[in-house]
Amino acid sequence: MKRSVDRRDFIRLGAGAGLVTGLTGIALAQNKPAKPLRLGVVGVGGRGTYLLRLALAAGVEAPALCDIREPNLARAIEVVAQARDGRKPEGYSRGPEDYQRMVARDDLDAVLIGTGMQIHAPIAVAAMRAGKHVLSEVAAAMTLDDCWKLVDTAEQTGKIYMLAENCCYWEHLLAVEQMVRQGLFGDLTYAECGYVHDCRSLMLEPDGSLTWRGEMVRDSAGDNYPTHNLGPVSRWLGIHRGDRFVSMVSRATGQKSWLDFLAKKLPAEHATRRFQYKGSDSVSTLVRTAKGVLIDVRYDIVSPRPAWGPYHALQGTKGSFESRTGNQVWLEERSKGTKWQPVADYAAEFEPAKWKEFRAQAQSSGHGGADFFVIHEFLEAIRRGGPSPVDVYDAVAWSSIIALSAKSIAEGGKEQEVPDFTRGKWQKASS
Ligand SMILES: NC(=O)c1ccc[n+]([C@@H]2O[C@H](COP(=O)([O-])OP(=O)(O)OC[C@H]3O[C@@H](n4cnc5c(N)ncnc54)[C@H](O)[C@@H]3O)[C@@H](O)[C@H]2O)c1
Repeated sequence: MKRSVDRRDFIRLGAGAGLVTGLTGIALAQNKPAKPLRLGVVGVGGRGTYLLRLALAAGVEAPALCDIREPNLARAIEVVAQARDGRKPEGYSRGPEDYQRMVARDDLDAVLIGTGMQIHAPIAVAAMRAGKHVLSEVAAAMTLDDCWKLVDTAEQTGKIYMLAENCCYWEHLLAVEQMVRQGLFGDLTYAECGYVHDCRSLMLEPDGSLTWRGEMVRDSAGDNYPTHNLGPVSRWLGIHRGDRFVSMVSRATGQKSWLDFLAKKLPAEHATRRFQYKGSDSVSTLVRTAKGVLIDVRYDIVSPRPAWGPYHALQGTKGSFESRTGNQVWLEERSKGTKWQPVADYAAEFEPAKWKEFRAQAQSSGHGGADFFVIHEFLEAIRRGGPSPVDVYDAVAWSSIIALSAKSIAEGGKEQEVPDFTRGKWQKASS
């Protein structure tokens, strides 16, 4: 594989000049590097605009933005103008393929992708082929074909591809990761995780047509949002650092909650009521790793419930972690009796190094401070010349569960092999 960043890039971005090693974007902003990183954004809806704001705060320039919705594009252009003394980026909005014109610009170093997830992969491939590093929102891809295209393109171009998987930076999950590394859980045997979050309010446009999330329920039968849960769990298990996903099975419920929701919201004659939806209310998946660890993954974004989100749990031969009861841990060699303890009891001993260094900058950012680290780590990876903190192999292995779960469900719960996207490299990487 070609080096992630060539030497010219590296020096131009400041790292070679010794300006930036070990600094955050915010620190960079304070140090005013001669040439800040230049980012283009495709998809400036809620998430793309939020990450754009964080990037601007980190000193990044944004010369170009792309969105098919004029109001969203205009709003984001204004965000940049306000942050940069009135200087407006160029807008691209001539249809769904206009990102091709944007990524071809020669004044961009990187592209952030914040569209709906159905088109993340083709945009990422186009951007890398045009010589840009990529920060892609989750998930990376929805088909196995797109997963392989991402791997091949990242390998062939040598560009940094990072999945913006913010849950990997949650402080309590990083603390658990350190406990795992120090052997406090013993050998890991089982993990449980899921994305169970009532997202019905995000499924319909005001006229009742489907948003991209609604289209996902229409078009895809599997677990469509696996990375927030499989990401942190994979870190604990050392996936691609000595272990990998080898096989999986999925089963699904019917669609009662989803169809009830549509019936409550829309008249019977509305076009949205007449689709044949592939999605189910709930999907359960079991993934098995090469070392024999079992991961139980649940997905449900349409059943009514109070707000919730990703959850994570871990079992080892010496201890256990459970997020659903309030981030509690029990460690055979440390805990007293059989009582669960808050992970926070171990905060001082297992404070993640990233958090120790950047707590002040991180804590005001979204998703419990994790969003800061997504931008920070991406910028640092480019400035260092790689590697990517959440690389293309991790991104596609976690995302492949979307396509594989749909296939398993369609085949009555038949076991599916998970491709080795690393082509054997998972065995060599150390944990
Ligand atoms: N990591 C997280 O915590 C988190 C949270 C929310 C959303 N997300 C992810 O962020 C992405 C966006 O979600 P959102 O809630 O911001 O959605 P959104 O609908 O608010 O934004 C998507 C934007 O993409 C634009 N778009 C669609 N097709 C396009 C195209 N061909 N070219 C250019 N622009 C196009 C839309 O017009 C819209 O402005 C999704 O992939 C989602 O999974 C991640």
